[in-house]
This record gives sequence, C-alpha cells and structure tokens, in this order.
Amino acid sequence: MYDYQLEDKLQLRKRIAPEYVHVIHHGISFCAVGSDGVRITMESALTARDRVGVQDFVLLENFTSEAAFIENLRKRFKENLIYTYIGSVLVSVNPYKDLEIYTKNHMERYRGVNFYEVSPHIYAVADNSYRSMRTERRDQCILISGESGAGKTEASKKILQYYAITCPASDQVQTVKDRLLQSNPVLEAFGNAKTLRNDNSSRFGKYMDIQFDFKGAPVGGHILNYLLEKSRVVHQNHGERNFHIFYQLIEGGEEDLLRRLGLEKNPQQYQYLVKGNCPKVSSINDRSDWKVVRKALTVIGFNDDEVEELLNIIASVLHLGNIQFGGEDSGIAYITTDTQIKYLSRLISPLNLEQAASARDALSKAVYGRTFTWLVNKINDSLAFKDESYKNPSVIGLLDIYGFEVFQHNRFSTFCTCLTVVLSSEMAIKDAVMFHAVSQWEPVQYFNNKIICDLVEEKFKGIISILDEECLRPGDASDITFLEKLEDTVGGHAHLTTHKLADGKTRKVMGREEFRLLHYAGEVNYNVNGFLDKNNDLLFRNLKEVMCMSENTILTQCFDRVELKDNKRPETAATQFKNSLAKLMEILMSKEPSYVRCIKPNDAKQAGRFDEVLIRHQVKYLGLMENLRVRRAGFAYRRRYEIFLQRYKSLCPETWPTWEGKQVDGVSTLVKHLGYKPEEYKLGRSKIFIRFPKTLFATEDALETRKHSLGNSPTLCPSPAVMIQSWWKGILARRRAQRKRQAVDSIRRFIKGFIYRHKERCPENEYFLDYVRYSFLIKLRKNLPKTVLDKSWPTPPAALVEASELLRKMNMQNMVWRYCKKINPEWKHQLEQKMVASEIFKDKKDNYPQSVPKLFVGTRLNGEEINPKVLQSLGNEKMKYAVPVTKYDRKGYKARNRQLLLTSNSAFIVEEGKLKQRIDYASLKGISVSSLSDGVFVLHVPTEDNKQKGDVVLQSDHIIETLTKVAICADKIHSININQGSITFTVGHGKEGTIDFTSGSELLVAKAKNGHLSVTAPRLNSR
Ligand SMILES: Nc1ncnc2c1ncn2[C@@H]1O[C@H](COP(=O)(O)OP(=O)(O)O)[C@@H](O)[C@H]1O
Ligand SMILES: [Mg+2]
Repeated sequence: MYDYQLEDKLQLRKRIAPEYVHVIHHGISFCAVGSDGVRITMESALTARDRVGVQDFVLLENFTSEAAFIENLRKRFKENLIYTYIGSVLVSVNPYKDLEIYTKNHMERYRGVNFYEVSPHIYAVADNSYRSMRTERRDQCILISGESGAGKTEASKKILQYYAITCPASDQVQTVKDRLLQSNPVLEAFGNAKTLRNDNSSRFGKYMDIQFDFKGAPVGGHILNYLLEKSRVVHQNHGERNFHIFYQLIEGGEEDLLRRLGLEKNPQQYQYLVKGNCPKVSSINDRSDWKVVRKALTVIGFNDDEVEELLNIIASVLHLGNIQFGGEDSGIAYITTDTQIKYLSRLISPLNLEQAASARDALSKAVYGRTFTWLVNKINDSLAFKDESYKNPSVIGLLDIYGFEVFQHNRFSTFCTCLTVVLSSEMAIKDAVMFHAVSQWEPVQYFNNKIICDLVEEKFKGIISILDEECLRPGDASDITFLEKLEDTVGGHAHLTTHKLADGKTRKVMGREEFRLLHYAGEVNYNVNGFLDKNNDLLFRNLKEVMCMSENTILTQCFDRVELKDNKRPETAATQFKNSLAKLMEILMSKEPSYVRCIKPNDAKQAGRFDEVLIRHQVKYLGLMENLRVRRAGFAYRRRYEIFLQRYKSLCPETWPTWEGKQVDGVSTLVKHLGYKPEEYKLGRSKIFIRFPKTLFATEDALETRKHSLGNSPTLCPSPAVMIQSWWKGILARRRAQRKRQAVDSIRRFIKGFIYRHKERCPENEYFLDYVRYSFLIKLRKNLPKTVLDKSWPTPPAALVEASELLRKMNMQNMVWRYCKKINPEWKHQLEQKMVASEIFKDKKDNYPQSVPKLFVGTRLNGEEINPKVLQSLGNEKMKYAVPVTKYDRKGYKARNRQLLLTSNSAFIVEEGKLKQRIDYASLKGISVSSLSDGVFVLHVPTEDNKQKGDVVLQSDHIIETLTKVAICADKIHSININQGSITFTVGHGKEGTIDFTSGSELLVAKAKNGHLSVTAPRLNSR
C-alpha cells in the first residue's frame, strides 16, 4: 500500500532544511533530527520560517557545545529570527534593522497566550510576566542585560509599548500610559549619547517600576537611575558625543530661546562638544528629536518656566566648559575668557591650573549629574500613582542594566557595571538552581558567583573597601598604592591576580597597572588608573556653596544647604553604587524575575552580519552556556502534568480519551506505556521532567502518527465542542450500524424465503411470502388501470390469483360505475345509438370503424333545408331525422338527389316539394348493405303492395348513422343484411335487379355492361 504519510513527510522535507525534524510540544515548536531524518511538522499555525533551528536551546541535543549553541543562533539570525529561549530566558540578537514583528497584530497574537504556544518574542516575556502578576498576584521584574548596543533599551521600550497597547485602560489611565511612554525620549535625551558601539547608548542604569491596579490597567510608574556616566559631560572619546540634549538644544532650539541662553547655533563653539570630533551623526536627527523631547516634557507635566530653567542649566554647563584658565607665575589660575566671568567669577579660589580645570569639570559633572537625578524625580512625580484608596498596586519592574562592555583595558566604570552584571546573572542562576533544589534533583554543579561578589563587596577585605580606604587615608595615596594594597590584602584569592602576582604567560597580556578578576565566564582585566579620583568624586565645598545660592530653582533643589552642614565625608562612588545595587537586589529578589539576554551581532551596527568571535564572547560573558547547563541539569523538558497528559493521552489506551484518576498517575501510566526508562524521566510534585530531547521527540513522532490514525484531528485535547461533536458522531454511527444489522437480517430472511417459496407456509418462508403479497398489492395500487379500455393488470403471485381476478373485476365495475355516474342524457342517447351501430356493423362493414369516433347528429337537414310543403304534408308526424341521399332509378340506375326523412312511423323519399315515396316501417321488409366501405343500401318493400314501385336503392354519405337511425326508428335492428359480393332486389312486377360490389381505389357507382349496378368501394382496411 502506498504510504501517504511518508509522502507528506517527504514533501515537508523538501520545503524545509532536511536535517531537522520539528516537534512542537504543547505549542512550543522546535526542531531536531528525527530518527529517520525526516522532518515532521506539528503545528500549522507556525510558518516554516519559525521553525529554523530550535526555538529553545534546552532542546539542543548537544547542549554543552558552544559551537552548537552559536550555530543555532546563527541559523535563526539568518532567517531574522532574533529571539530564542533558554527555558524561560529570552536570548535576543540585535537585528540592526526594522523587522515587521512589532505590530499591533503581533501584540494581539501574544496576548494571553501561553509562553510556549507561539514563537519566542519579547512580547511573550512581557505577556507572561503580566499574566503571572495578574493570576498569581506576585510582583514581577524583567531583567534585560547585554553589551552596549545589544538592544536592551529597545527591548525595554518594546515591553512598555506592549503594556501601553494591550492593557485595559480608562481616560485617567491613558495619561499615565502617555507619560510612561513619553518619559523615554526625555530620559534618553539627557542620559543617552552616541558611543562607538551604539548611536543611542544609555549612559545610565535604569530600573523602572510599572504599577497596575486590580483591573490590570497601568496606573503609575517609578524610575530608579544608576550611575550616570558624568565624565561624558566634560570629555568624550574620539568618535563619540556628549549627551544628546546639548546637540538637540543647539540644533533645534528656537532663535529666541538660544539668545536668552546666550548660545550660538554651532556645537563647534563649545569645548565640551568638540572632544569627540563628531557633532553630527547620520543616524541621529537632533532637530526633530528636539521637537519630540520638547513635546514629551509637556506631556510629562513640565511648565514653560521649568523647561526654561532646565535648559538654562544645560546652557550653563556648556558655558562652564568654555572657561579657560591662564597660569600666573605664582601658579594660581585665573580665568582668561571674559565673557564667562559673569557666570563664574566667584568660583576662583587659589588653585593651580590643573586643579582649576579639574574643579570646573567637577562642577559641570556635578551640576549635570544632579540635574539628571532631579529630572528623574520630576518624572517620578508625574508618574506617581495618586489613588490613595488603592494601597498596593501590583508591579512589573524593568531593569535595563547599563551596558557591560569588556574592553581591552577596563576602567572604574566598567568595574562598577560589571558588578551589576555579576549580580544579575547570579540571580538568574540562583533562580535556576533554586528550581532544582525545590524539585529535589541531584545537586547541580554551577559556578558560584558569591565568591566573586564577596571578593568585591566584603567589608574590610573586599576590593571596594580597600579602594575606599585608600581614598580616605591621609598621605599620598594613589592608584598604584591601591593596587599594592590589593596585592597585600587579597593577592592570594583564587579569582584575583595582578601583573606582579601573575605567572609569566598571564603577565604578557596584562599591563603593569592592571588587576584581573576571574568571573564565572572568563577573565577581565581592570586598569587602576583613575580609580581613586573617580571613586572620590569630590566637589569643592565652596563650589557647592555657590550652587546653593543659585536663583535657579532646579539647582537649589539639587544643591541642598543641609549637605553643607553635614561634615561627614560623602560616600565614595563605589560605595554609593554598591549600596544602591544592594537596594536594587533587594527589590528584585522580592519579585519573580524574567530574563532577557541581548546580544550584539557585530560592532559595525550592520544588519545581517553575524560576527562569530564577538558573539562567542558575549555568550560567554552573559553566562548563557552556564545558564543552559543549569537549566538542562539533566532534564531537557518539563511540563505540568495536566498539560502533558492532555497532549499525549491519546498514545495510551488507559488514558484515552479521558483519565479519571489523579493526574500524576495518568502521566505515570502513560509514560510506562510509552516505554520511558526510569532514568529518562522523573515525576515531580506537579510536573514531569524528561531528561533527553530525543525521548520527547520520539513521543512527538508517535503523537503525529497517532493523529493521522485519529483522522487528523487538529488537536487532541477535546474542547467541549469536540466532545459534543464526538458524542453526536457516536450516536450517528450507532444508528447507522443498527440499520446495517437490520438490513443484513432482512436480506438473509429474504434469501431463505426465496429458497422455500414453493413450500407450504412455514417460518422460513412466511416473511418472503408476506413480502411478495405485500409488494404485489402495493405495486397493484400504484398501477391500477385508469380507464375501462386499459386492460393491463399485473401478474399476481400464485397465492393471489383468485383475489387478483376478483380485484380486477371490482376495479372494472368501479370504473364503469363511476363512468356511468358522470354521464349526461344527451351523451347517453348518443352512446345508445352507438351501441346499436356497433351491434349491427361491428366487424361486418368496412367503414364502421371510421364512424365510431364521429358523433351521430340529431339530423343532417334542418327545417330550412326541407321544403315547407313537405313539412306541411307530413302533418302531425314528427320528423326524427333527415339526410340528403342519392337515389338510383330502378331502370337505367340514374342517380337523383333526394332527401330521406324519418318520422316515428315511416320513412319518406322526398324530391323538392314532393313526397315521392312513403315507406311504412311496418311494411319495410329489410335493409341490405354491402360489407365494403360504400354508402349504398337497399330498402326492401313488399312487391304485392301496389303503391310501391319496388325496392329503393339509395346511397348516403353517412351510411352507418343513417342506417342506425332507420333501424332504431323502424325497430329493425335485426333486419339489416350485410352482403358480400352482390345484392339482389326487386324492381317490381316480378323483375329483379342486381348490385355488384367490388373493392377499388375510389368510390364509383355505374351501370355495368351486364345490366347490373356496379359499385366500387374504396379499400379502407387491410381486409
Ligand atoms: N529589536 C530591534 N529591532 C531593530 N533594531 C534594534 C532592535 N534592538 C536594537 N536595535 C538597534 O540597535 C540600536 C541599539 O539598541 P539599544 O537598545 O539602544 O542598545 P543598548 O540599550 O543595549 O545599548 C538601536 O538604536 C536600534 O537601532
Ligand atoms: Mg541602552
């Protein structure tokens, strides 16, 4: 037999790459090599494109192979499939081009749909968190990490948009949604900049809470900001820019505004904007961005005055940057730029040139940094959830962790950000490990980040403590003394080394001013240059004082006098960051986390380029292999019992179609039936865990085969509709089967009856005989003759011959009776005459049949056609019939036109007005006609009667009618002789005449040579 199923599979194989088989478990679609190398697709909703590689790394057979991991990423990336899961972690590769996957339709597709039912997407993560928050009433957070330019900020924006579009809303909520969305361009203007890696790189860490009310509508938000890269205000590397807002203001600001701020429309004029030598970027339109930001400020709730004050500060920073110092011989700096004096004259204190510049820059940084914090607070005010009556909104947090870039030489900021990443990946792994602990699996080996965290954070002995101590201690502390201190204190730590402590090989790749940390994912070198300064982040007291006196209300809020009174040393940058990070961790730990890991495919911001080296690097630093390994930790797949059972129950007779017992027992029965070996799976509290993808694939294969045998049902999980449908189908099938059984019985009885049909009635043949009788009667009823002339009658079965005959007669009588009942007197008279005609002529005279259908008329001549004299001489005698006739003379047979009149007593031959001859019926001896079709007849009269001149030879065109009338009137029905060949008649006085009849082509009446009257009658019948 031809295997259509195989054909199907082969067709599919041609369509999609051959080496993979796609398997979808409860909606999740993934692919793997099937045992027969044949590709099987299981869900038509997913397009072939969605099934490239595996959608979940967990299903990679070779899950420890980094090459296989990257190959899977590459394959999907090539098809623009930028999202892939590791369990519940979403890995995203920056496409560097607009993909059509963020439309409203896409949002709808992911809304309320189970995580695994659709192809991986950032919306799936967003929706999953939202639903968990709603159904489990547990706060959620989504942690987004990755290198700068990997797409973190884009991802967080996509999530925000998803909520803004898909969540329920009311009017009041709409403003919150708007503000949430509009806070982005403002924060990006002040906190983002073009770097070498990303034209719109966030230069601060952001954690944003979105608050939802009990209906699930977003009602508020809160932003925490971390570690703005303030140094960018005063210095940019080549090819990079300052924060966007500076360029936006200069390019987009109205003339009036710029004049008020004392700014020129040329960024090249400002020292703080020229360092990177890159004021313009093709991918950035500062002018239109300005409009967006300006509008967003209004939406968020800034009034015009506040905007002006804010921009005043931005402008002041630019002016500040343009202050130049000159060195006096004494070494004390003075300001050389006149125009700026009015802004800063009072700030000069006895500083040397370098110190003065540094103080200026420190001020700029402080002003910008604090303004940024103020801005965030202002946004928070506008996003704050104001409904007092509703105390505990549910929360989804979004963490866009500051880009962690590993450079050849990493500095202080990287060191700080690396902390974040270390902590967040630790959370992810802890999460996975916790899962295993809960489900009591065998212990999982994983790199414990705690050892690094301790190395960095620990009190007194940690790197941060050592750094702080160096910053605080009197004497000439420097970056180098810090490094030496490190070597002294933690030099022996397994995860730290320095140039001095390293072995020869490592030493070659380390600078003298570097220390190296061994993270779980690899080694990172940090250059200590600038660590102390950055950590100190000092601002001279008198500068602070001046700022406190500012008339700018924003600045007075940023520089609080209380700060001046506080003589305690401010916290160092690293400590501040460590503390805020600790706080953040606390926040995150109280929530259920989801993870998005962003990967940058190349350094050139190019679409379609997959730089394998760069990616391998990120896979390593994001700890993705570690993540996968822990996730797999022996088990590739886990699913809740009810879902597993629902999907595969058709594969086991005991569980199909429904399993009545406990779910876990059902699953256990099912997998035993499927032949799972004990080491291949485990049953947890609410889930089944399957160790190898191939086990699952085999199960999917079986399901696919089963589906075909089940009639290709699209789903094996019966919905109520399907159940009703199957019940009804069952009923119909049972009815059909019953009918079939009955039919078989009938046929069997029939055949038996047929065999016994000639036997006496017995149980074997009684059904058959009854059937035959019944069917004869039914057939008869349908085929009864409709008229008396129809003599057909069905042949009866032997048992019904007598009955049939009786029925036939009854039917005939019935028809006759009905016919007679319908008849009228006129017609009755007609028929009576016809009866007489029939009696006389039927089968005797040739032209009789032609006369049958012609009705007899009352008379052939009416009153006007008969001479009145004749009528007068008839006197009282009532005329019954009159017809024109031809009379042949007795001698010579001359033909004369006459009329024949019939009265009750006599027949008259009339010529014009004369009654030529009267024949009383009583004296009429007989009437002779031929058997042929002619109309000649002879009225025989007695010769002894003197009044009579002899027999009368007449001819009528209506011979049958005429003679019938004569026979009736004269009551001579039996006196009509029908003759063959010839008729003899008396001419009178004993003489006789003869008429000879022959058949010919036409009527001819003439005297023959032999003296006879010869009549040739046309042949009408075949006789
Ligand atoms: N999903 C995406 N689709 C299209 N382009 C993207 C996507 N994610 C990132 N990009 C591009 O990459 C750039 C850098 O992304 P961004 O989110 O700013 O990186 P990060 O925040 O990780 O530094 C964006 O400006 C955008 O051009
Ligand atoms: Mg960013």
